[in-house]
Amino acid sequence: MANTRYAPAVVFDRTAGPAAPEDSAGPPSSPGAFGSVFTDHMVTVRHRPDEGWHGARVERFGPTAMSPAAACLHYGQTIFEGLKAYRAPDGRVLLFRPDANAARFQRSARRLAMPELPGELFVQALEELVAADRRWVPSADGGSLYLRPFLVATEPFLGMRPAEEYLFCVIASPVGGVFAGGPGAISVDVSHDYARAAPGGTGSAKCGGNYAAALPALRRAVSEGYDQVVFLDAAQHRNVEELGGMNIFFVFRDGRITTPPLLDTVLAGVTRDSVITLAEDAGHQVTEAPYPVEQWRDDAASGELREVFACGTAATIAGIDRVRYLGAEFTVGNGGVGPVTAGLRTRLLDLQYGRAEDAHDWVRVVP
Ligand SMILES: Cc1ncc(COP(=O)(O)O)c(C=O)c1O
Repeated sequence: MANTRYAPAVVFDRTAGPAAPEDSAGPPSSPGAFGSVFTDHMVTVRHRPDEGWHGARVERFGPTAMSPAAACLHYGQTIFEGLKAYRAPDGRVLLFRPDANAARFQRSARRLAMPELPGELFVQALEELVAADRRWVPSADGGSLYLRPFLVATEPFLGMRPAEEYLFCVIASPVGGVFAGGPGAISVDVSHDYARAAPGGTGSAKCGGNYAAALPALRRAVSEGYDQVVFLDAAQHRNVEELGGMNIFFVFRDGRITTPPLLDTVLAGVTRDSVITLAEDAGHQVTEAPYPVEQWRDDAASGELREVFACGTAATIAGIDRVRYLGAEFTVGNGGVGPVTAGLRTRLLDLQYGRAEDAHDWVRVVP
């Protein structure tokens, strides 16, 4: 299914950007901070109720003019996605499960009363951009081209209703690993006060407001020496839900693995779904069940819990070893990255970089 070739639904205007991007500075030798350098091009597609999706273009990366009254600037009708293009050893450029991101983008759009971009057009837009900026896909180990599709309401209108004009855009940024220290373990602060998402809210949608709401907790954690924040359920501050931008998994002494269930407060990560499959392939029993933070602390103390890891597109799989909860710290396992975490990370990266057989048909070659 992932490799289905769609008949191009839309003809993209490729004349707007530079025909030969060789005149740009090109990819830097080192990508710098995550998401701080952008490629030569971007893709744009517009939507209006009368015209549907129209005006698809590959154009030069740059500022987009919009009215100061554009609805996205006021009422937060903005959604986005994040996935990567990887360079295989033979030079092919690969996308990993872009159809899953397309489906999640549609779910996010529904939750924010925005128009749903057809999945074929979503994938086609990614391929148009990656083809135009192919030379920006890093070949260095661990590097990739991060793709950021997003949809914003552009209608100049301050009334309270879903907007009627939208801009879909894809930009791209060459990246190395997310955490400066490479694939070492990260530390987390469990937030006992700030919540990320509430039942009935937008936690399972990838909308801008969720991330803004998580920033004070992240700022506090980082200023106090932690890499990331773990959020608990909003009602009781009891069950672990996820990090600000990654899902979480717990690995037990007997090989069992558990991860919080996909309630409407948790984002359904593509990496999460892939990890469940890969862990089951490797013989682990994987459950999706609530896990209270106090149980986490007790299981770490008793040694029942051997490893914890976070996963998402940006960081792939990162071990979690140091945890702060209610002012006290505890360590998981022996600290560092455990063998199950390391094995799943290698397995996932081998698939994403085209170094392993794609038994699940997850990889799509950019033509
Ligand atoms: C809140 C949140 N949870 C989890 C994830 C992981 O999702 P994925 O594996 O699709 O990148 C992300 C990143 O997209 C996220 O923003």
